[in-house]
Amino acid sequence: MTPIIAPSLLAADFANLQRDIELINRSDADWFHLDIMDGQFVPNISFGIPVCQAIAKHARKPMDIHLMIETPELYLQAFHACGAYSISVHYEACTHLHKVVNQIKDLGCKAGVALNPHTPVHLLADIISDLDLVCLMSVNPGFGGQKFISRTFQKVEQLKEMIQRAGSSTLIEIDGGVNSNNALSLLNAGADVLVVGSFVFKSEDPVNTISDLKKVPA
Ligand code: DX5
Ligand code: ZN
Repeated sequence: MTPIIAPSLLAADFANLQRDIELINRSDADWFHLDIMDGQFVPNISFGIPVCQAIAKHARKPMDIHLMIETPELYLQAFHACGAYSISVHYEACTHLHKVVNQIKDLGCKAGVALNPHTPVHLLADIISDLDLVCLMSVNPGFGGQKFISRTFQKVEQLKEMIQRAGSSTLIEIDGGVNSNNALSLLNAGADVLVVGSFVFKSEDPVNTISDLKKVPA
């Protein structure tokens, strides 16, 4: 299966954001991945709703919004209004995860749950059929450019098995430290979506880097 490639704008040049959005528009990338950080759930602050609105004016591909924030339920409507295609909340930030997932779906967005590296995938067993997406963090969230945690490969396999057992079509997204060295193994383990930040934007030719990633399974 051809992977879904979702470049993370966290690694873009914020002073040339429109230029970098256009670059993704004309590439083979499938989604824009937008990392929202509140300085509470993660020790960093990225950007919020006004910047997402500005991105939406130029983005011609679906916006995959990753909320690394406390009380995400308070902001779902606002991100939906920005034009979100999918919204992922963190398992670790939601006491009432089932309710939040249904709120996302009621807005008409695809619903995702992200798991920190220390959170086992089996904790999603009772909700997996309700999810459109599971985002496995392969770094500790908060910063781009970190080293991939190799334990993620086993988590992908376990999650794939759980999804297949449930007869669900939930997508598995990998976020953090993805590059051409681990992409094929991730896809072979069962990943469907690769989020790529630094590896794309720090490369000499990001458009070419994206098309190479698209061709990885070939
Ligand atoms: C990390 C973010 C990631 C990050 C990925 O907290 O959720 O999306 O931007 O960037 P790289 O690919 O540089 O690890
Ligand atoms: Zn992310």
